[in-house]
Amino acid sequence: MTTSSAPGKVYLFGEHAVVYGEPAVPCAIERRARVSVEPRDDHRVRVEADELTLDGFTVEWGGETDEQPDVDVPSTLVEAATGYVDEALGQARDALDDPEAGFDVTIESDIPLGGGLGSSAAVVVAAIDAAVRSRGESIDPEELADRAYQAESTVQGGEASRADTYCSAMGGAVRVEGDDTRPIEAPELPLVIGYDGGAGDTGELVAGVRALKEEYEFAADTVETIGDLTREGEQLLAEADPGEEPSPVLLDELGDLMDFNHGLLSALGVSSRSLDRMVWSAREAEAEGAKLTGAGGGGCIVALDRTQATRRALEYSPGCEQAFRAELATEGVRAEE
Ligand code: PMV
Repeated sequence: MTTSSAPGKVYLFGEHAVVYGEPAVPCAIERRARVSVEPRDDHRVRVEADELTLDGFTVEWGGETDEQPDVDVPSTLVEAATGYVDEALGQARDALDDPEAGFDVTIESDIPLGGGLGSSAAVVVAAIDAAVRSRGESIDPEELADRAYQAESTVQGGEASRADTYCSAMGGAVRVEGDDTRPIEAPELPLVIGYDGGAGDTGELVAGVRALKEEYEFAADTVETIGDLTREGEQLLAEADPGEEPSPVLLDELGDLMDFNHGLLSALGVSSRSLDRMVWSAREAEAEGAKLTGAGGGGCIVALDRTQATRRALEYSPGCEQAFRAELATEGVRAEE
């Protein structure tokens, strides 16, 4: 059995706008997807998943009659999960130059599915890495990030940026602008996550922003403004000493930009009542700033607060199912015992 893990992420700035070539700054967090792979003698694939937001399921495909999973979860979620694994294994077969390779795959993840913390990217990155290594080969993180992007992009009908997959493969904070991807230095930020227990449909939300942007010039301007504030945020991070605790002034300035970013995402129609509520609970608890993270529609917010106040306020906030502190994951994909 070969196991790899890869981290989830939050967007400090720039989701959605990154789809149109603006920069984004995601940051990997210590919540991981672990994927274990065993090569098979035939060309079939068997996937067992034990995901935080699913009850767990097993599904097998690649034979004469593909088995329908007998599970107590919405079939769309299972299809989405197996779709990502299928594409990831396709990339692994391609890297191994063995189109017939079969695998037994076990997924465990503590990243909520579809909640904006990059669960699918983490599963795809870890699955490609584990499948390739299970056959005694290796793959470097840049190639892995590219293959994971190809897999995710295929499942999402071409509407994906490189941000999630690159961040998950490399770890740390990264900057993504079109095909230009690079790690950046960032201090350890006091990130607090609120999760409403829900999920947004990334494809639908991206399509909604695209439609708005095509119809209204002010929506196109909003996307550009997100790009501008992301550049400003990057500048603040670049000026900070990554080895030092972030200063109160830095947190205050980053927080203001996050608040602004949330407002603009809201204007683009991708927030939701529960995300707004959690953002307001965080602000009222005197977080330095708070915004939704990822595609939106439901899922997670990220706030900056070095005290316990925001996490506690979120725990008591109606509509917040889980609140936790997230550490920066400096390591991206890695081999596990
Ligand atoms: O919610 P997530 O983790 O799938 O993030 C989606 C981020 C978008 O910018 C909306 C799309 C993308 O691929 O960058």
